[in-house]
Amino acid sequence: MVFTQTLPLVPAPVSAVAREGRMPVTAATRVQGSSPAAVQLIEAVARRTGIRLSAADTADADIVLRIDPAMGAAEGYVLTVAETAEIVGADEAGLFYGVQTLLQLLREDESGWGFLRAEVHDAPRFPRRGVMLDVTRHFFGVADVKKFIDATSALKFNQLHLHLSDDQGWRVHIDSWPKLTELSSSTAVDGEPGGFYTKDDYREIVAYAASRHMLLIPEIDLPGHTHAIGVAYPELVESPVLSEAFLAESAKNGQALPVHGESYLGTGVGHSSVRIHEERTYDFVRDVVRELAEMTPGPYIHIGGDESLGTPQADFDLFAERATAIVVEAGKTPVAWHEMGSAAGIAEGTIGQYWGKTTPEGTHAEEASHFVERGGALIMSAADAAYLDMKYSEDYPLGLTWAAIIDVRAAYEWEPTAVLDVPDAAILGIEAPLWAETTRTLSDVERLVFPRAAAQAEIGWSPRSAPERNWESFRGRLGTLAPLWKAEGVDFHPAAEVPWSER
Ligand code: ACM
Repeated sequence: MVFTQTLPLVPAPVSAVAREGRMPVTAATRVQGSSPAAVQLIEAVARRTGIRLSAADTADADIVLRIDPAMGAAEGYVLTVAETAEIVGADEAGLFYGVQTLLQLLREDESGWGFLRAEVHDAPRFPRRGVMLDVTRHFFGVADVKKFIDATSALKFNQLHLHLSDDQGWRVHIDSWPKLTELSSSTAVDGEPGGFYTKDDYREIVAYAASRHMLLIPEIDLPGHTHAIGVAYPELVESPVLSEAFLAESAKNGQALPVHGESYLGTGVGHSSVRIHEERTYDFVRDVVRELAEMTPGPYIHIGGDESLGTPQADFDLFAERATAIVVEAGKTPVAWHEMGSAAGIAEGTIGQYWGKTTPEGTHAEEASHFVERGGALIMSAADAAYLDMKYSEDYPLGLTWAAIIDVRAAYEWEPTAVLDVPDAAILGIEAPLWAETTRTLSDVERLVFPRAAAQAEIGWSPRSAPERNWESFRGRLGTLAPLWKAEGVDFHPAAEVPWSER
C-alpha cells in the first residue's frame, strides 16, 4: 500500500514513496558487506540506538548494500525498505548517501527501533554542495573539523572549504615559509588562543573528508586579508590602509587598530594587502600553492580575492591574473571570490564564488559573469541567504548582521540559478560559509550552522520541481532531524518556526 505520508527526509529526494509499516531493527539484523558505507551504517545505528547490527557477508542479509555503475547519475542511489532493506549506489558516494537516507528513516516508537518502509530514488541536482569553515578568526582543531564533516556530510554536502588564512592568523604549516605558523598562528579574535594544522593534521582532515565523500578546498586569502602574513614576513605586506569606515567600525567595536608586523585581534576588513609589485610576493604565492597542491588530492585551490579594499584596482587585477595562473601551473583549478572577476585575464576555467546578495549590487554580477566568459563556472553563496554566520534574529547572541538577518525560512527560500544572468549550466552548485568572528567554540558554530545548513543542503540537492520542495514541507521534515542531531551531540538552534520532534 502506498500512502501519502511525508517521509522524514532532508534533503528531499527526487522521489520517495512511503510504505506501510516498519522494518524492525535489532541486534539480529544483519548488514551485508564490509564496505566503508556498511561500517558507517553499523556505527551510526549503534550510536543512535545502542543496538549493534551484525556484519554478515551473505547476499541474504537483512540490509544489502551494493554498487551498480549502470545506474548512471553520479552520487545517486535507490533505497528500498520492506521486510528487508537494500541500497544500490551508482558509486561509493551514492551508497554513502543511501545510508544517510536510511539513517533518517530510523525511528523509535512503542515497539522499539525500526526503519520506516519506503522506496526512494535519488540523485543530486547540483554536483557541488559545499560548506565553508573559517578557522582563522577562531581556530578549530582536527577533532572539531571531523565532527563538522560528519554532521554536514550526513546532509549530503560534498565539499568542505577551509578558510585557512586571514588577517587574524595563518592556520596551516608551510615548510618553505615556516614563520607563518611559528609567528602568526597563536592568536585569534579578541586575543583568544589560535592554532594551526601540521601537514599531518591537514592530511588527516583531507582523508577523513574523503571517507565521507567530501572534497577539501583549501583557501589562502590573497591579496587582501593578509595582515597575518606580515606578522611573519613584514616585507611581503603593505602597511595597513585605514579608511574612514574602518576607523569608525574599529572605534564602535572598541578594537585596537592593526599595526604592521603585529598580531591583529580585531574583526575589521579591507585594511591589508600583499605587495603587488614585489617578485618575492609571487615566490611566496607559488611556494604556498605548490605545498598545498601537494597535499590536496582534490582539483581546487581557492586563492581568495575578497575585500581587497586597500589594493588599487589595477594592482588587484594584475595580482588576480598572476595568482590564478600560478594555481594552474601547480596543476589545480583556481577558485576565487567573485571580485577577482574584475580582472580581464584571470586564468581560463577559474571558478568564481559569488557572495553578493540575492539581488546583486554594484559590479558583483558583472564580476561573477566574467568567470563564465573565461570558460569557468560559479559557486553560489548569496550572503543574504546562504551565509551561516548571519544572526537568525536581531537579538540572537551569535553572529553578525551586515548582510541580513536570516531566519530558517529566508535561508530556505532562495534560488541559486535566479541570482545572475548566466546559463544554468554555469552554476556548479552552492556553498554555505560559516565565518567565525563570533564563534569561540564548535558548539557556537553548530548553533549557527544547524538547522540552516539543512536548508542549503536541500537547495543544493533536491530537484526544484520535487513535490516536497517547499517551505511547509521542509519545516516539518526539518523538525525530524532533532533526534538525529541530539544522538550525535550536534548543537542546533531550535528555531520557533520549526516543529521539532522528540524521536
Ligand atoms: C566574504 O564574505 N568576505 C567573502
